[in-house]
Amino acid sequence: MSLLRKIKETADFLKAKGMDAPEFGLILGSGLGELADEVENAIVMDYADIPNWGQSTVVGHAGKLVYGDLAGRKVLALQGRFHFYEGNPMEVVTFPVRVMKALGCTGVLVTNAAGGIGYGPGTLMAISDHINMTGQNPLIGENLDEFGPRFPDMSDAYTAQYRQVAHRVAEDLGIKLDTGVYLGVTGPCYETPAEILAYKGMGAHAVGMSTVPEVIVAAHSGLKVLGISAITNFAAGFQSELNHEEVVEVTQQIKGDFKRLLKAILAEL
Ligand code: HPA
Repeated sequence: MSLLRKIKETADFLKAKGMDAPEFGLILGSGLGELADEVENAIVMDYADIPNWGQSTVVGHAGKLVYGDLAGRKVLALQGRFHFYEGNPMEVVTFPVRVMKALGCTGVLVTNAAGGIGYGPGTLMAISDHINMTGQNPLIGENLDEFGPRFPDMSDAYTAQYRQVAHRVAEDLGIKLDTGVYLGVTGPCYETPAEILAYKGMGAHAVGMSTVPEVIVAAHSGLKVLGISAITNFAAGFQSELNHEEVVEVTQQIKGDFKRLLKAILAEL
């Protein structure tokens, strides 16, 4: 089946389940999926029950699609995303963003855990731009003209207006929100210290294994984007060792502020 047919089939399926006309898509990264538990009047679907949908495998990702009301907005939240390093094709990694667009979302809020280059554990960072070091591009293949152009402009992939709202809201809440460039790799290994030094020189402030493919697809289809990184560790070479347990642990510590911030932002977008 063509990608376009799959998108339509899945969107129709979700609509028939009552997941109609969401305003915002939420992509919740490692350990940040709890926000979806706060959705009211929720309709919840296991990924396994959704046609054409991928399956999520990594620790800390639940694998549920949650639709309903959050902070007075209609949201469609991914509790657990698909990573390229799990062996998912880019089409699967970015499929939920396509479906969000097809269902009528105008914006997506994309979150992740990331290693900090300069920034340290516990920092929340609004993503101002990204560098694609995955060596991949999710738009390779036949262009979906219904969604966007063959050669989409990425100059404003991260919507300045959303970021302004995020900073204003963070200040009101007394939550520190930094800004920076997210550099996306495929993983699953963490970077070498030499890679991180190179990325620093390229202008990156955070490095992670997600987000870039989803944002490319979002920008292609004209979706507005807010990206927020939760920095869980200093990137390789700036601390003695890296492990997933620390990423999960630090995420647990930041998630209170993270949830408060995201809800307050949603209410204001
Ligand atoms: N590198 C890549 N991805 C990450 C990191 C990191 O240091 N921390 C959390 N996700």
